[in-house]
Amino acid sequence: MLGNFRYHNPTKLYFGENALDFLKDELAHYGSNVLLVYGGGSIKKSGLYDQIVTVLNENGKNIAEIAGVMPNPTSDKLNEGVAIARANGADLILAVGGGSVCDYAKALSVSVHCGDDPWQKYYIRFEEPDCPIIPVGCILTMAGTGSEMNGGAVITNHAQHLKIGHVFGDDVMPKFSILNPRYTMTLPRYQMIAGIYDIMNHICEQYFSGEDDNTSDYLSEGLMRGLIHASRIAVKDPQDYEARSNIMWTATWALNTLVSRGKTTDWMVHMLGQAVGAYTDATHGMTLAAVSLPYYRFIMPYGVKKFARFATEVWGISPNGQTDEQLAAAGLSALESWMKEIGLVMNLQELGVTEDMIEGIADATILLTGGYKTMTRDDVVTVLKASL
Ligand code: NZQ
Ligand code: ZN
Repeated sequence: MLGNFRYHNPTKLYFGENALDFLKDELAHYGSNVLLVYGGGSIKKSGLYDQIVTVLNENGKNIAEIAGVMPNPTSDKLNEGVAIARANGADLILAVGGGSVCDYAKALSVSVHCGDDPWQKYYIRFEEPDCPIIPVGCILTMAGTGSEMNGGAVITNHAQHLKIGHVFGDDVMPKFSILNPRYTMTLPRYQMIAGIYDIMNHICEQYFSGEDDNTSDYLSEGLMRGLIHASRIAVKDPQDYEARSNIMWTATWALNTLVSRGKTTDWMVHMLGQAVGAYTDATHGMTLAAVSLPYYRFIMPYGVKKFARFATEVWGISPNGQTDEQLAAAGLSALESWMKEIGLVMNLQELGVTEDMIEGIADATILLTGGYKTMTRDDVVTVLKASL
């Protein structure tokens, strides 16, 4: 049964090949100083940077820039950006890139006017902002994280070996996001596939919990079926616009607060993946792929009915007299085959994890309680060893 909840998502979306045409309408709502934030240069290569700068100039904006936001953005980079934003008096932060750039922009938005150390305040003490927040707009170039329509901002602190996400509230969510699937077509295959698995896992994290009959789970099943279908087309032909547009839209709905309404959620694959990321700086979606199957096989006995439902409703496996345990195992085998088919990383060694890192990664893994089994630190070590 659905519990009590509030639903409100303030992000306005513009989707499709003409989405950038609407940037000028959005710019009219903000002051003249725009802080343009982007990554390591893909937007310069693709020509998107020039298009955006032209629109900003035509609309009389002063442009300051933060370039070089790295995948898995760091607390040091955040501090660097705070100084730039303060010096330029930003009225709008315009993020152009993937989840890392969008997350970074949100973290920056609550840090520029913060009197405290942002890492300590938001990521160690998990406090909420009590300072003015600079509005953020996103122009997305990679599908996966859902950052374009949520309050998540994941930051890595290399010195402390921690990668932590803070999910901020409505005031921090992007005011608008521009989603043109064409922009994702220049992504390297590795990133495209990592993004696809990130989407799949976001849905799984919200699906594998609870025993009730819940609309959110039916929505999740539809999203997963659509994603699997589109992914198979996209890996064969990455230039297939229809598939890439479906993947982009699914990514947004997989983590924009909809499918978690009225139920508990798991998120332990992400906790494991983030801890791996803190040690290796590996691509986010691949860290999830490497630990997923050992984790799901470990918790499956505690949620066997849902895993059986996953087999029949997502993978189309016929019940055909099978027990729930048999069906559940078949569903995870189908997941495994699909993961191999699209070319995901299937173990931690490929990401550079060695046996001697396991204890540290376990220490960095935050234990959550919403899934079928509350993990202990020993359980985490077991799953990490099985993922090597
Ligand atoms: O930096 P540039 O040069 O732009 O290159 C990027 C980067 O190297 C490249 N790229 C992006 N769009 C491209 C492109 N290359 C060519 N053409 C394009 N159109 O792809 C690389 C990866 O980009 P990144 O932004 O790091 O990927 P992603 O979107 O997967 O974001 C990952 C970050 O988001 C966090 C992750 O932890 C990680 O830090 N997450 C954020 C979440 C949220 N806000 O809710 C939830 C997720 O679970 C995730 O944790
Ligand atoms: Zn993710």
